[in-house]
Order: sequence, then structure tokens, then C-alpha cells
Amino acid sequence: MITAALKSRLLEAAREVLENAYAPYSHLRVGAALLTEQGKLFSGANVENASYGLTLCAERAAVAVAVAAEGPELKVRALAVVSDIPGACPPCGACRQVLQEFGDHDTMVIFSGPEGLVQRSLGDLLPAGFRLGRGHPNGERF
Ligand code: THU
Repeated sequence: MITAALKSRLLEAAREVLENAYAPYSHLRVGAALLTEQGKLFSGANVENASYGLTLCAERAAVAVAVAAEGPELKVRALAVVSDIPGACPPCGACRQVLQEFGDHDTMVIFSGPEGLVQRSLGDLLPAGFRLGRGHPNGERF
């Protein structure tokens, strides 16, 4: 769990960074901010591309910024994601999978649901996310 003050800071940072989104195709600006185990905040915005499938979501942009700052041992405690239009903005499936790489069942995800802000654990949002199995040479990270 995170404090109400930290939750507010995450939401504030996510709302601030969405102003910098590059979204000329969908016109949906998305901002994400995450809190690391080390107590630092990092944020990112969506970056679209004329080749639509190359679009980078805000959450994954924030993860990349955090890895660049803290390195491969990054552990995400919580992440907030918001958009600039009213209505639900849950993290997409790809972003849930990427978050799992640097989080765990208890990583907290805050987003707008159909009736206001929702706070859910990553384990609830991605119940059977892919992990490399124990038999795999690289499957021992968790
Ligand atoms: N988007 C995100 O930034 N995060 C998500 O979890 C879902 C979608 C962005 C991608 C694209 O620029 C726009 O929202 C519309 O899909």
C-alpha cells in the first residue's frame, strides 16, 4: 500500500506529463507516473508514430525512464495512469505485462475507471502474466 500523499503525487505527475504527449493520430494524451522501491518518481507520456503500431504507451515510456535512472534492478511499487479525456483509462495488456517485469503481485496500479479512480494490484489486473519458467536459463529472476 502507498500513502494518500504519494498517490496524489503520482496522479499529479501523471497529469502534468500528459501535456507533453505526442499523440497527433489518436488525439488521446496519456500520462503515467511510477514510484520505485527506492522512493523515486518517474513519468512518461505516450509517443505515437505514423506507423501506428510503433506507438509507445505512457506506462512503458515511464518504465524506460525509470530503468535508465535506476538500472536493471528497478522495482516498481506503484504506477498511476491518466488521460486527458473523461472516462476510463486502464493500462493496456502490453503495459501490464511490461510492468510485471519490474513489479510483483502487489504493485499498485491507479487509473480512472468508468466511475472515477480505481486502485488495483497488478496481480489482479494480470492474473496469469507470462514469466520465463524455472527450467529456462533466464527464468530465475523471480
Ligand atoms: N495508450 C497509452 O499510453 N497507454 C495505454 O495503456 C493504452 C493506450 C495510448 C497509446 C495511444 O497513443 C493512445 O493511447 C490511443 O490508443
